[in-house]
Amino acid sequence: MATKDYIIAPSILSADFSRLGEEVNSVIEAGADWVHFDVMDNHYVPNLTIGPMVCQSLREYGITAPIDVHLMVEPVDELIKSFVKADATYITFHPEASEDVDRSISLIKDGGCKAGLVLNPDISIDVLDGYLDKLDMILLMSVFPGFGGQEFIDSVLEKVNKIRSIIDDKNLNTRLEIDGGIKLDNIKEVADAGADTFVSGSAIFNQPDYFQIIQEMRDSLET
Ligand code: DX5
Ligand code: ZN
Repeated sequence: MATKDYIIAPSILSADFSRLGEEVNSVIEAGADWVHFDVMDNHYVPNLTIGPMVCQSLREYGITAPIDVHLMVEPVDELIKSFVKADATYITFHPEASEDVDRSISLIKDGGCKAGLVLNPDISIDVLDGYLDKLDMILLMSVFPGFGGQEFIDSVLEKVNKIRSIIDDKNLNTRLEIDGGIKLDNIKEVADAGADTFVSGSAIFNQPDYFQIIQEMRDSLET
């Protein structure tokens, strides 16, 4: 895959929330492609983060980069509607958190956003059956969702491989995103397994120089 087709999406979960607009500007200026926006409800996952008002504020602050909203909430539909209004770009959700997956996908797409399903490390790829043609993105979790800074679960690589084959065999235009424990040491291996979109939180925001770490990640992808 050409390097330009790889997307790096820093997860703002690890940003300094007291200066969120500046932090997002900094990573985008440092070469990030998208902003990964983790929404946790203290119900589907045991943590509580940010909602549509913050997404809207980032737009009003002047952020024009794609905002990749990862919903870790249950139920999903009301928040999908709110994030459509808040000008999200991608909205992904966990299928087991939706009452009606087709309806949730339609709410996203009819709202003009791009839709994706998220699979936890222990969820079989069979749950994608019947939805593949409708998805702009598949997000594979390589940690159990809830917190940044966890270790990448290696067994997910096999799943990345399988989904890459399915996407290629069917000639789909679906992005394959990976989220959890992505860092300079493993980004290349995950790309080789077939991912093209990389969420990385702590490995970017814990560095003093965002430009340098993003550049090193791109250099590693190019090798
Ligand atoms: C985990 C979130 C991730 C997380 C990634 O529940 O969905 O997006 O912020 O953080 P790192 O890259 O630190 O594992
Ligand atoms: Zn995420």
